[in-house]
Amino acid sequence: MAHLNSSLLIFLSLSLLQLFHSAIGRGGERDSGIVDKSYAASRRHLTEEKHFQKLNILARGYMTNSDLEKAIKAFHGRCSRISRIYSIGKSVFGVPLWAIEISNKPGKEEAKPAFKFIGNVHGDEPVGRELLLHLANWLCDNYMKDPLATLIVDNVHLHILPSMNPDGFSLRRRGNANNIDLNRDFPDQFFQMNDDLTERQPETKAIMSWIKKMRFTASASLHGGALVANYPWDGTQDKSKSYYACPDDEAFRYMAKLYSGSHYNMSSSQEFEAGITNGAHWYPIYGGMQDWNYIYGGCFELTLEISDDKWPPANELQMIWQFNKRSMLDLVASVVKSGVHGRIFSSDCGEALPASIAIKGINYTVKASERLADYHRLLAPGHQYEVMATMPGYKIRSTTIKMGEEAMTLDFILEPTDSFLPHQCYNRSSMKVLEVMSNPHSQVALTLILVLAFLYFLMKRRVIFNHFRGRKSIVQRRVSAV
Ligand SMILES: *[C@@H]1O[C@H](CO)[C@@H](O)[C@H](O)[C@H]1NC(C)=O
Ligand SMILES: *[C@@H]1O[C@H](CO)[C@@H](O)[C@H](O)[C@H]1NC(C)=O
Ligand SMILES: *[C@@H]1O[C@H](CO)[C@@H](O)[C@H](O)[C@H]1NC(C)=O
Ligand SMILES: [Zn+2]
Repeated sequence: MAHLNSSLLIFLSLSLLQLFHSAIGRGGERDSGIVDKSYAASRRHLTEEKHFQKLNILARGYMTNSDLEKAIKAFHGRCSRISRIYSIGKSVFGVPLWAIEISNKPGKEEAKPAFKFIGNVHGDEPVGRELLLHLANWLCDNYMKDPLATLIVDNVHLHILPSMNPDGFSLRRRGNANNIDLNRDFPDQFFQMNDDLTERQPETKAIMSWIKKMRFTASASLHGGALVANYPWDGTQDKSKSYYACPDDEAFRYMAKLYSGSHYNMSSSQEFEAGITNGAHWYPIYGGMQDWNYIYGGCFELTLEISDDKWPPANELQMIWQFNKRSMLDLVASVVKSGVHGRIFSSDCGEALPASIAIKGINYTVKASERLADYHRLLAPGHQYEVMATMPGYKIRSTTIKMGEEAMTLDFILEPTDSFLPHQCYNRSSMKVLEVMSNPHSQVALTLILVLAFLYFLMKRRVIFNHFRGRKSIVQRRVSAV
């Protein structure tokens, strides 16, 4: 009997270890209900200790948190012309959450889309943080040499947070220092479990205010434990495990397929058709980062599971980077190579209007930026869309576009609802004109602008017009005139 008990204990410890090790990235930590809790509790300490030691051995060759900080600073030192580094906040233990921005105008607000990558959301999923440093360095080394690197640096503000959970990493565990799963710590659309702000973890708070401030067009977080590109929704209203499509299901499937299709072998998955999955169809989670990004951040986020093995031997990291390189680049580039983009102006003063862009039949609104009024709306190719610009005090404008394989530029000019009332123009626009006039090289441009403005008045101020903003880039962009 005693013999039986001790072998049972060994068996339980081993299976617990196994459970820890193979816990799926996005979810995991699910109670199997099979393990006897009292046995498990009495062995937990020992098991965790063993687990920690086992992971410490596996972590050989991976960057420590201080190695990571050094790597980020070294990157910036090497590549300061097209990057900046900044911290978005601190972990529970006070480790800065370092982010890298890569752009030809880092830190400057421009009418360009922004993309973010977040790695190491779960402390025991370290592959992403390694790959993100590879990505940053590759872009630095290939800017002005490789067309995709150049396209990204010139047209996107790419923000990279290699580790969202440095404390969990150093503890070799999933949760943060308070043992909270950060991918369950966001407000949830169906259940109010995380609505107490004071309870939210510092890492989560830092991400939330970052998202609100930066206005990302799209993003991805990197996880380990599976090989699949996961897209919203992550949760269902009735908690059932079933496909739960968000309003932009088509655009998300397009993005997820773009990732899996460019990956070395993600799309040949046996478990997931085409290497992609709807989150709730796989298994529902609540309080995740992905859905929150889409609902409250205006940001199309994927959750990428990039390695079946959470801790592959460090000498395989270079290979895993090669497997994911093209996917990562293609996903970032998709925010300029697909979708509809433009700016919104008023017809009377020409000032930028922070209007909203809606698509008929899709219950989701994208807001133009406050200052530059640029918008970036991802859409699946191959369909016709009716695009509408709305702004209180202005008449709605809408036009139908046919989305092909390339991006479109579509600017809107909105007419005030009541154009007879004297309208106070913002000073922003008059400053713009002054800037132009003070520049001697702009005389010709100014004359041209005046002529165009006159023609425009003749055409009555009713047309929505699209103009190509003369981006000197290699982005192929179809510009339609309606
Ligand atoms: C992808 O390739 C890796 C490395 O060869 C292999 O371990 C993995 O099982 C493959 N996965 C699929 C889905 O083919
Ligand atoms: C649109 O989405 C909002 C939530 O974002 C929801 O409250 C509303 O009922 C939806 N409308 C339709 C017509 O589905
Ligand atoms: C806008 O410009 C007018 C005149 O040019 C000036 O009187 C007014 O104070 C300015 N408003 C702001 C907010 O700067
Ligand atoms: Zn994970």
